Amino acid sequence: MTTVTTGSAIDERRVLLLHGPNLNLLGEREPEVYGTATLADHVHTAEQTAAAFGIAVEAYQSNHEGDLVDRIHAARGRCAAIVINPGAFTHYAWSIHDALAAFDGPIVELHLSNPNAREPWRHTSVVAPVASGTICGFGAAGYELALAAVARLLGPTGET
Ligand code: DQA
Repeated sequence: MTTVTTGSAIDERRVLLLHGPNLNLLGEREPEVYGTATLADHVHTAEQTAAAFGIAVEAYQSNHEGDLVDRIHAARGRCAAIVINPGAFTHYAWSIHDALAAFDGPIVELHLSNPNAREPWRHTSVVAPVASGTICGFGAAGYELALAAVARLLGPTGET
């Protein structure tokens, strides 16, 4: 089980950035679909974008569904929002749907590719029904868009 130190109060300017299976291989994995940037590159982009809005990013990647569920639970009452690229879990991991449903705050579903323009099995997202919105198909720029969306949803510093 993943253990995360939890504070007693929610940090209104802290966002959890979650990545699911195979996204640790970004940069090497199907670059024609996902681009050549690594996961570290994307996390850096997210951190830079978030910093401009006075938001801190806590990033985590796992290839294991339960680890992601644990991490979402640990964000409850501690993080203000979640940005999640669940990878293939997007399409069938109802435990991630349920964990996100128990999170009180904005949730942005993020994909590098546009799953709706790909194979039919990618057209279903079990995360979308519990997300505030979905950003997909914009490649690396999606990270800037996702963090800007979170900042917009949280409101300016000091007003949340
Ligand atoms: C993905 C799309 C998913 O369908 C796929 O399984 C991934 C990556 C994306 O970012 O485009 O692993 O989430």
